[in-house]
Amino acid sequence: MQVAETNTAVREETVRVFFAIWPDAAAQRQLAELAERLEADCDGRKVRAENIHLTLVFLGEVSINRLDALCQAANEVQGTGVRAFDFAVEEVRYWKHNRIAYAGTAKVPQGLLDLVNALQSALSAAGFTFDQQASYVPHITLVRKARCPAPSIELRTGLPELTQPIVWPVREWVLVKSGQANGRSGYTPIGRWPLAPGMTSQR
Ligand code: 2AM
Repeated sequence: MQVAETNTAVREETVRVFFAIWPDAAAQRQLAELAERLEADCDGRKVRAENIHLTLVFLGEVSINRLDALCQAANEVQGTGVRAFDFAVEEVRYWKHNRIAYAGTAKVPQGLLDLVNALQSALSAAGFTFDQQASYVPHITLVRKARCPAPSIELRTGLPELTQPIVWPVREWVLVKSGQANGRSGYTPIGRWPLAPGMTSQR
């Protein structure tokens, strides 16, 4: 937790938070194996298996006094009946500008877009501010400080290819606090919301 100082010297305790989805055990294992292969190819530092996730909305530092309002906004989203979906990870990519090797997809599921849109609307209505890109590009960071052989996002030569998509059944989303614990960066879920049944295929 951080203590933010304003020019009126009022100190406010804040937490760094984001909404995300976490892979189930099978998808986590496959993504962790992929991260291992990528780390071998690209150097850098792989994300630990338990930390692999997909961010839906990143809020950054939020006053602890606003956490209830944040959860209330998520409750409202759940009340709209946002539905479960399957997310098929099928691409491995590299962003040279921030040296992140990541997994993603060119076919973003409608269920994921619906969830992100609903969260963004509810959070804006509740007065929260966050980075709102023109279009949401899902990325699952697998290796940081990477130096992948691919010179750009368009040229993927040298990155491991996925022979089969990693299918991730998404059944809930979480509110996560990020911070240092025992000298390591880690994530702690502070809220959890199930998705309504639907929009899924058999594995
Ligand atoms: P990253 O993996 O690309 O760094 C916790 O830090 C999560 O929030 C990570 O998924 C991280 O993405 C994401 N994140 C951090 N800062 C962000 C920002 N300014 N905008 C969007 N997502 C961010």
